[in-house]
Amino acid sequence: MAQVLLLFGGRSSEHEVSCASAVSVHDALIESGHRVIPVGIDRDGSWYLADTSSRPFRAEGRSVQLNVPNGTLRVGSDEIEFDVAFPVLHGPYGEDGTVQGALETCGVAYTGCGVLGSALAMDKDLTKQVVASKGIATAPWLTIRRKEWDADPSVCLNEVSRALGYPVFVKPSAQGSSVGISRVSSDAELKEAVAKAFRYDSKAIIEQAVTAREIEVGVLDGPMSSVPGEVVVADGWYTYDAKYRDDSSSFEAPARLSKEASKRVRDLAEQIFELLELTGLARIDFFYEIGTRRFLFNEVNTLPGFTSISGFPKVWMASGLTYPELCDRLVDAAMSRHDERGKLAVR
Ligand SMILES: Nc1ncnc2c1ncn2[C@@H]1O[C@H](COP(=O)(O)OP(=O)(O)O)[C@@H](O)[C@H]1O
Ligand SMILES: [Mg+2]
Repeated sequence: MAQVLLLFGGRSSEHEVSCASAVSVHDALIESGHRVIPVGIDRDGSWYLADTSSRPFRAEGRSVQLNVPNGTLRVGSDEIEFDVAFPVLHGPYGEDGTVQGALETCGVAYTGCGVLGSALAMDKDLTKQVVASKGIATAPWLTIRRKEWDADPSVCLNEVSRALGYPVFVKPSAQGSSVGISRVSSDAELKEAVAKAFRYDSKAIIEQAVTAREIEVGVLDGPMSSVPGEVVVADGWYTYDAKYRDDSSSFEAPARLSKEASKRVRDLAEQIFELLELTGLARIDFFYEIGTRRFLFNEVNTLPGFTSISGFPKVWMASGLTYPELCDRLVDAAMSRHDERGKLAVR
């Protein structure tokens, strides 16, 4: 039994998703016999001890401070200790290594990826660069920075027609949940899409659109991969609304793949997990290109959606782990990694 600090909400466009994920994780941890301290981070970054009776959880209640560097929580005049932190924060300021850094400074155990893996995986451009450097296929892309675009967009427009060709996807480099992403087919649309992406990040990627199935693989420490799952998008692409607001898409686990294709994508996922210095958990997403039957690496989510009906828990359930077992395993893995790390020489 561990005393688990469950962190949810956060300063990101995925705040609500996180509040929903936290309910499922909370209940599973309780079912596994753990004690949970639910702390919600509001959109301004303040921490609150949440009330678990109102669902989905809300980032409000009594104010909480994380004491740096001793790693306890202060609530009023009380000081609360915990054994392990379980961040269920999606997107910037949570999935990107920032909260992990704060926890690291306090010397506490936490589930999931560390500072480097979280930060790297949050940046679509750098992740693709590292993965491509090992010869793993990924859709061709260009990186653009606001400064260069503002100085002369025609350089970028020429490069798009020379190296990629329409249609392309434009994405903020560090975001999630399809926020700030557009699919465009002309220079005029591209200009609008770039302006939209730059609302979320000063770096964006422009990526060749592929015709493909969307395959997702869960990975835990080991590395150990789950059976692949598939997002079946009714038409178009997997937008924010398709993810959270309507029923136009569905998720299949296991994905309908041949044994050979399934092994190939699982091996790739495990290889990428190690390559990007990931720990704890990650969901690694691929495009399975119709025609070539190649798997193209798309992106990594180090804190994927975690409600009991989200893809990541579902691929594990299809692999034989129950949702509470999955959460329990993440807590155990966090404590073992923390112990291992404690054995390293510091001078
Ligand atoms: N190169 C591409 N070709 C085809 N569809 C794409 C491409 N890039 C993204 N998409 C579509 O956009 C969705 C969101 O893009 P993704 O890179 O996964 O960003 P996010 O981090 O927001 O999930 C994908 O699930 C897919 O439906
Ligand atoms: Mg995605």
